[in-house]
Amino acid sequence: EIVDAGGLIALPGLVDLHTHLREPGGEEAETVATGSAAAALGGYTAVFAMPNTDPVADSPVVVEHVWRRGREVGLVDVHPVGAVTVGLGGERLAEMGMMAASPAGVRMFSDDGRCVNDPLVMRRALEYARALDAVVAQHAEDHRLTVGAQAHEGPVAARLGLAGWDPTAEESIVARDVMLAATAGARLHVCHLSTARSAAVLRWAREHYEVRVSAEVTPHHLLLTDTAVQDYDPVHKVNPPLRPAADTEALRRALADGTVDCVATDHAPHAVEAKDCEWSAARPGMLGLQTALPVVVTTMVATGLLDWRGVARVCSEAPARIAGLTDQGRPLTPGEPANLALVDPDAAWTVRGAELASRADNTPYEGMEMPVSVVHTMLRGRWTVRDGKVQDGEVQGHG
Ligand code: DOR
Ligand code: ZN
Ligand code: ZN
Repeated sequence: EIVDAGGLIALPGLVDLHTHLREPGGEEAETVATGSAAAALGGYTAVFAMPNTDPVADSPVVVEHVWRRGREVGLVDVHPVGAVTVGLGGERLAEMGMMAASPAGVRMFSDDGRCVNDPLVMRRALEYARALDAVVAQHAEDHRLTVGAQAHEGPVAARLGLAGWDPTAEESIVARDVMLAATAGARLHVCHLSTARSAAVLRWAREHYEVRVSAEVTPHHLLLTDTAVQDYDPVHKVNPPLRPAADTEALRRALADGTVDCVATDHAPHAVEAKDCEWSAARPGMLGLQTALPVVVTTMVATGLLDWRGVARVCSEAPARIAGLTDQGRPLTPGEPANLALVDPDAAWTVRGAELASRADNTPYEGMEMPVSVVHTMLRGRWTVRDGKVQDGEVQGHG
């Protein structure tokens, strides 16, 4: 099959370290099938499925189920992330070794689903991960601070003119876990880094310690600021929250200078009821897979902070390296089936949530113009998207 790639930019297939596919248990918001379609349309060839499902992905059975569904759908490589803990409060360590040994071959674990606010549990998880040569992805959300503030104090604090949404919820965990990782000799990955001071902590830690730490930033934290939240539209409710413009600026610079290694979507689909309600009742999270690359272009390329080479690095090469993927995020070897995203740098489009392939429509970019389009995506030599349309797979998406 020949496609005309004249005028298009070829990128290695994009790799997302932070996707919520909601299966099992949240199929009214997304499934492996609909999320895979959204990923392929966004130029992705590999996604890491976060474990905060129902049941939580803390056992070989659940991770194997997600992995198997990904293979059946066949639009993108779905790598399940295992939860580091089990138990209601996440007080016990999960059988990380069993998940690593399962056909899913889990190599990334996360506290998602049950935030690890206990440093001793986190330290043990890091030690276990080190023994498995796996990475621990830390959400750095102490919900006693972030969700509490966002759900309840946020609007009240705003009315009273107080600063809500304490950034130290994130910064204190980043600082703590960088130290714990250094002590354990383990690899730590910081999810959705969102403040200037978190980036400063990373710089400081790398300068002073032998620490193996990586970090991601979301497209929405690169583009949107807390001014978007002033009307308390639940579509802008997300963890970590949208931050002041000074943080957004600092995050762009941190991504450009390598302090932050990569972009990850935190694609978080929610059913209509979870967003079509008042702020305090709404669930946090926003769609990201189909808009990530254009938002990176808007915030990083159009501003001169990165060139397309840099885009390949932060959206594909770096995440593949962090996750230990050997078949993604690198230049082609002659004769090898390719993972590719072909992008039209001049094809602008307007975001309509209802037209996205996700089952949910909670995009914060409704009506916004995106500057570039993913035209074709190839997974191991087979087109998963051609001319902006999903090929094969179990679903075509409704886009
Ligand atoms: O990391 C996150 N995951 N942040 C959010 O705001 C939403 C979320 C989810 O919905 O799972
Ligand atoms: Zn999170
Ligand atoms: Zn998330």
